[in-house]
Amino acid sequence: MCGIIGYCGRKPAVPVIIEALRCLEYRGYDSAGVASLCDGELLIRKDAGKVEEVIQKHELAGLPGNVAIGHTRWATHGGVSQLNAHPHSDCGGRVAVVHNGIIENNQELRQELTARGHRFSSETDTEVIPHLLEDELKNGRSLEQAVLSIAPKIEGSYALLALSLDDPGRIIGTRKNNPLIVGIDDHDYYISSDALAFSQYTGQVMGLEDNEVVVLAQGGIHFVDARGNRVAKQARKLDHSWAVSDKGAYQHFMLKEIMEQAQVLSRIVEQDGKMFTEIALDILRARQVIVTACGTSRYAALVGRYLFSRVGKKFCDVVMASEFGYFADSVDKNTVVIAVSQSGETADVVEGVKAAREAGAQIISIVNRPNSILTDLSHRVIYLNCGSEIAVAATKSFLCQLAIFYLLAFSMVNSFDAAVARLSDLAGDITRVLDWNKSELIKLSDRLQDKTDAYYIARGINFAIASEGALKLKEISYVHAEGMPAGELKHGTLALIEPGTPVVVICPADYTFAETLSNAIETRSRGAYIIGVSDRDSDIYDSWIRIPEVDELLYPMVAVVPLQLLAYYIAISRGCDPDKPRNLAKSVTVK
Ligand code: M6R
Repeated sequence: MCGIIGYCGRKPAVPVIIEALRCLEYRGYDSAGVASLCDGELLIRKDAGKVEEVIQKHELAGLPGNVAIGHTRWATHGGVSQLNAHPHSDCGGRVAVVHNGIIENNQELRQELTARGHRFSSETDTEVIPHLLEDELKNGRSLEQAVLSIAPKIEGSYALLALSLDDPGRIIGTRKNNPLIVGIDDHDYYISSDALAFSQYTGQVMGLEDNEVVVLAQGGIHFVDARGNRVAKQARKLDHSWAVSDKGAYQHFMLKEIMEQAQVLSRIVEQDGKMFTEIALDILRARQVIVTACGTSRYAALVGRYLFSRVGKKFCDVVMASEFGYFADSVDKNTVVIAVSQSGETADVVEGVKAAREAGAQIISIVNRPNSILTDLSHRVIYLNCGSEIAVAATKSFLCQLAIFYLLAFSMVNSFDAAVARLSDLAGDITRVLDWNKSELIKLSDRLQDKTDAYYIARGINFAIASEGALKLKEISYVHAEGMPAGELKHGTLALIEPGTPVVVICPADYTFAETLSNAIETRSRGAYIIGVSDRDSDIYDSWIRIPEVDELLYPMVAVVPLQLLAYYIAISRGCDPDKPRNLAKSVTVK
């Protein structure tokens, strides 16, 4: 949520910032802005709107200067408006700050600052920061000292960048519980929430620990700890294969990411069998195993729960990360917590994991983004290896999460290699399911585009796919959709079925087939329009999405793919932007 970028070096800074904002837009896209230092002036341009709109409207490309910061916003405190867009400034317009995170004590700080005569121009929590810095600078502190001195006063989470006319030629950055990474190319320095923002210029990066401060100046860079003591850092290489963010020939990232699923699944052979076996043993030995995640990642965990039980005979619970804290009392050193997160920076997941770690639990994380906050908190990390996922709607990361759970479950019975072989074969089935259904799904999306509600049902291991299919539809098409176990329908939701209501029935020809179909027939008797997702055709389907026949534990992986594509085409036919759904952002770094 919110992307920040800074550049200090020999090049014109704003073009670098603009390119970076385009890359960071997945983190928030309701407002954008830049601040540049040039010839004794602090130039700030910002507005509500998508990055491209703000770039054009304010002719950002023409802004001079070699030191600049930028921001793309996902609103938390204060509505979407020009005044609430970042960068934010102090009373005299001498300091500019961009921030990602939440300042929890902003109300108290605002009151204190107002009492001291500061005037605020936005409703944001962020604006307290430039005003706090203003006071420090007036007391003769350097910007670095000012940031060090105000950091302990700020409660909450932040990654922030500041520049000032009173200490020109430098950018100061610091972070707590939010990502910030530095890129170095000779005497050009970059700093951002995501290395993707500068990966086209450099592959040399340096991380920043919580509470550390970095100073990017035209003559060099240095890091200090919270007390101001110098910290030595080694640059490491960025994995460039991960940093690619090109749509290629596709109209949207979401479509590209759906289409590359067969290819990313084939990378499963790169997973380390020894590590899986060790982790599987830890899971089997643990007194209790809790999986925590949000959204799509949680649905992957729900499939994992069936796999652990069915294959490894190990029960685990799946707890929504935002609710995890309420169960923290029962976490101890005999608990294994598995945290699943594409981004590795979802605030609810990170917070739960911190609490569990403090309680002595062993933390295993399943993540996509390398070097994320979650990976730093984990004892063991399993990477999805599916490359950068840019579309807000998760697709390929979900498929890879399912594959990881499959490998973990089979590692519990010492069958890692066999599981890898089965997953490798599945890549062909993923390609087939896309080829078979593409044109039918386009037609179906035209038929469904005006519907206001849709229900997705399934049983057993396929149940979470119903929830995931519904989540895809609602988040990118704004159609109300619910996914549920098919047997649960008659306990209330059946009352909502009317003639023409779409019901997506995921009923592969496995142990769930007969009962799921019978629940579908109950909805059909009330006039529902039945979309069957199965390898077996049936008279009761009004539309059939055909999936290949696979091992019954693998049906979730082939069933989810056409549902992603269906949601995509419905979004397109309703005129929605599937990559940037309203009100959402890819990384949810606030609680
Ligand atoms: O990065 P994470 O996997 O932790 O993200 C969790 C959810 O925010 C995410 O899956 C969200 O539900 C997606 N937009 C769904 O497509």
